Amino acid sequence: MTQDVIAVRACVFDAYGTLFDFASAAARCWDVLGDKATAVTTLWRDKQLQYTWLRGLQGRHADFWQVTGDALDFTLETLRISNSTVRDRLMNLYRTLDCFPEVPEVLARLKKDGFATAILSNGSPAMLADAVAGAKLGSVIDQVVSVEEVGVFKPHPRVYQRAVDRLGVPASAIAFQSSNAWDAYAASAFGMRTVWCNRYNQRRERLPGSPDREVRSLAELPGLLRCG
Ligand code: LAC
Repeated sequence: MTQDVIAVRACVFDAYGTLFDFASAAARCWDVLGDKATAVTTLWRDKQLQYTWLRGLQGRHADFWQVTGDALDFTLETLRISNSTVRDRLMNLYRTLDCFPEVPEVLARLKKDGFATAILSNGSPAMLADAVAGAKLGSVIDQVVSVEEVGVFKPHPRVYQRAVDRLGVPASAIAFQSSNAWDAYAASAFGMRTVWCNRYNQRRERLPGSPDREVRSLAELPGLLRCG
């Protein structure tokens, strides 16, 4: 059975893991990390996200650059990696992560089809500006919305509301794409149409919300959406 295409006016994307490959930082330090590179990527990401949620619960927000550095320090200590330059290298690389291969073409196609395009991310404005410039996506992303504009991390509903306010379209006219299942579920519960880009073969969440579609790569996205 074929599913109907989703009619929306704007396409909003999560950044890290969805447009940008956070594994590319540790992969580019293989000379130092060797076969610990994968463990660094996994623990760094897990801890980074935990710190966003824990800081949110405590009402003690710090920006994503701080949280990302704290999570990296925890990771390097846990994995007993004491090389003196690797922390700076990894943090610098996090600012210009590779984008996933299909991303430039998909965004260009969505723009051509008439959608407004935006990023909605935990990333700080400076991090996101560097990531967009590094991946040369500036001409295909209309707006970059950082959680710093509301002072709390995802999945607080104020974050998703910020995208609605900045884009000036109702939640129901936005397709939100995230590879983080919890993020896709939260955007769905908020009222956006959502496409869960399940790059990491995660299981479905038992949380409020229900993504409209599940795909493996963003290459499938243009075929799922209609501008209207
Ligand atoms: C972001 C994280 C959640 O970009 O991937 O917001």
